[in-house]
Amino acid sequence: MKVDFEIPKHVGIIMDGNGRWAQRQGKARVFGHRAGMNRLKGIVKTASDIGISALSLYAFSTENWRRPKAEIEALMGLLLEYFNKEIDELHENNVKIRHLGELSGFSDSVRKAIINAIERTKNNTGLQLCIALNYGSRLEITNAVKAIAKEVKENSLDIDDIDEKLISSYLYTKDLPELDLIMRTSGEQRLSNFLMYQAAYAELIFVKETWPEFSDELFIQTLREYSERNRRFGGL
Ligand code: IPE
Ligand code: IPE
Ligand code: MG
Repeated sequence: MKVDFEIPKHVGIIMDGNGRWAQRQGKARVFGHRAGMNRLKGIVKTASDIGISALSLYAFSTENWRRPKAEIEALMGLLLEYFNKEIDELHENNVKIRHLGELSGFSDSVRKAIINAIERTKNNTGLQLCIALNYGSRLEITNAVKAIAKEVKENSLDIDDIDEKLISSYLYTKDLPELDLIMRTSGEQRLSNFLMYQAAYAELIFVKETWPEFSDELFIQTLREYSERNRRFGGL
């Protein structure tokens, strides 16, 4: 697939509104999460087809552990299903899977599925699919600060060598292209602890449709809106 406008290299998506979408139809929230997973498959395919380099998807935040146990379990079940069922096709499509966040906190089976997906696709050269699971920007930055402090304490790093480039290399997004765009579905206008450091000069686009309603056409339309933005990075 080819589009007639300039596409961003690295897109972040806050996939929000699954629960409300389901509840509006009188269904359980998990019904929305399943629909959300199906939409995720479609968007990944489209992103890969049009040649986006990196797609970072916010699937589970460090704060989402506050949800009822049954909803967390349903989400974990869907995650397992996604990794186990989709991995072959993702691999065939040359997609390279990455994880943004902490692996601790997950059950063994979920952790294994994530590690296996990363390992299996590590030499692929197509879309970098970065799934943010147990991700939070504040945790990411806290861990980076700790790791840097440790190096300084052990004399393997000089304080004067701490610069923006070094800090970036301690984040989960290490070696990914600069984040160009964050889109969020469902009308909420906040970052909810997603890629706060990386979003310094990202364009933000808030879409009113919920994630299960976010069609490939809407995705393309949102990318087009991005291409019409004037990015100045503080210059003129
Ligand atoms: C987004 O949908 C998916 C996750 C956070 C896992 P929500 O579950 O947040 O749905 P709403 O926002 O409550 O409608
Ligand atoms: C953000 O959505 C996290 C994900 C989409 C995974 P939430 O629904 O958890 O965010 P808040 O609570 O509305 O800020
Ligand atoms: Mg939500």
